[in-house]
Amino acid sequence: MSTDAVTMDKIVSLCKRRGFVFQSSEIYGGLASTYDYGHYGVQLKSNVKAEWWRSLVQRRDDIVALDAAILMHPRTWEASGHLEGFTDPLVQCLGECKRRWREDHLREAAAEEGRDPGEELRCPECGGELSQPRNFNLMFETHMGPVADAGSRVYLRPETAQGIFVNFRNVLQFARKKPPFGIAQVGKSFRNEITPGNFVFRTREFEQMEMEFFVPPDEAEQWFSYWVGERRAWYERLGLRPDHLRVRAHDPDELSHYSSATSDLEYLFPIGWSELEGIANRGDYDLRQHAEFSREKLEYVDSSSGERYVPHVIEPAAGADRATLAFMVDAYDEESIEGRERVVLRFHPRLAPVKVAVLPLVNKDGQPERAREIYEDLRERMPTEFDTGGSIGKRYRRQDEIGTPWGITIDHQTMEDGTVTLRDRDSLEQSRLAIEGLGVEMERRLAAEWRSPKLG
Ligand code: GAP
Repeated sequence: MSTDAVTMDKIVSLCKRRGFVFQSSEIYGGLASTYDYGHYGVQLKSNVKAEWWRSLVQRRDDIVALDAAILMHPRTWEASGHLEGFTDPLVQCLGECKRRWREDHLREAAAEEGRDPGEELRCPECGGELSQPRNFNLMFETHMGPVADAGSRVYLRPETAQGIFVNFRNVLQFARKKPPFGIAQVGKSFRNEITPGNFVFRTREFEQMEMEFFVPPDEAEQWFSYWVGERRAWYERLGLRPDHLRVRAHDPDELSHYSSATSDLEYLFPIGWSELEGIANRGDYDLRQHAEFSREKLEYVDSSSGERYVPHVIEPAAGADRATLAFMVDAYDEESIEGRERVVLRFHPRLAPVKVAVLPLVNKDGQPERAREIYEDLRERMPTEFDTGGSIGKRYRRQDEIGTPWGITIDHQTMEDGTVTLRDRDSLEQSRLAIEGLGVEMERRLAAEWRSPKLG
């Protein structure tokens, strides 16, 4: 297994230093476990989402897109089981610190440390006695309209999936699809997590990338295996090292209330192996529940054979923030070159926030003007940056830290023969290229196959 210099602290500090991610409401002291994305973070996360759309919708005939509202009819959450079952067992310290903990996490930790998971638990912070567990619902409540009473109560959705189920009939009608087919959606979800933490790994507001794939009941198992394989391959194609990814099937007592089988794709984060994405076999649970609560028929009827059935659902559910964090962690590298240290994010070029940096070697002799012309041509084709500030070494290091795969330097030779120096972020090789045709050449490089240099 390839070794890593990365730690979560290094990622947090790089994110702040280079403007990827900041603490939210920082000037007021910050809001716990809530983050804002800056310029490079926005572009990186957008690229992750764009690759997800490209792979799940653009390159397939059998999946269509949806963008449902965050606020949904409150009956949705009764039908889905979230009002009843989307809870965590909460215990509170009755000693000094009064902190709240998830009972299941404390029992898991006890088992991992070789202790009896059924033992009487004590507060991990101050050793105090703990209260009896109480089920705590993770949904955020708010009110619609001017009066805050029970009749106006609505919820911020805790998963995007339900927006897909309640639109099943619309899509079936208007997209003219028949099972197996899928509906894909990307959007914000909210959970009042008891123990958020580890930077953007677990927050209370986050973005999900979910797809519900509706299949004939007898094909569910085969499609479940298919999607586990597809989703793993997606992460690997975008550069995650295969030895840092694994599939873990849930034990029966871990399954969500709707699921008959779930496998997590786990990534070896600096905090250890943790869930990156869940792939669940939801059976016909959701469509049947919504059909019962809404009294609408939610089934597929084959117009030629007359056969009717409630499709089963296979759901690959990913987190955009968690995936972005995994790509950053995997890309992070440190090396020493001729006695100088550099930090470099070895992103897949398609994920890199900036693809090319155009850098005049000196700020005179017509070089900045020529560089600006090249920059203005390239930025029409791909995200490009123009940087004139500081020594060339300092500018390269800045680009390395945001993961820019290519640097183009304009020097005195450029002014003589119309060529530029192209520097490769990973190999540090420098080659000369003609300005004529440069845009096409950079597009070719961006579209080419890529393999993480960390794989050797
Ligand atoms: N619809 C199924 C569902 O929501 P989940 O495993 O609870 O399943 C799917 O969530 C993915 O969403 C997770 O694998 C993770 O990537 C992301 N996710 C869930 N809770 C999160 C949180 N509190 N913060 C950040 N990402 C989260």
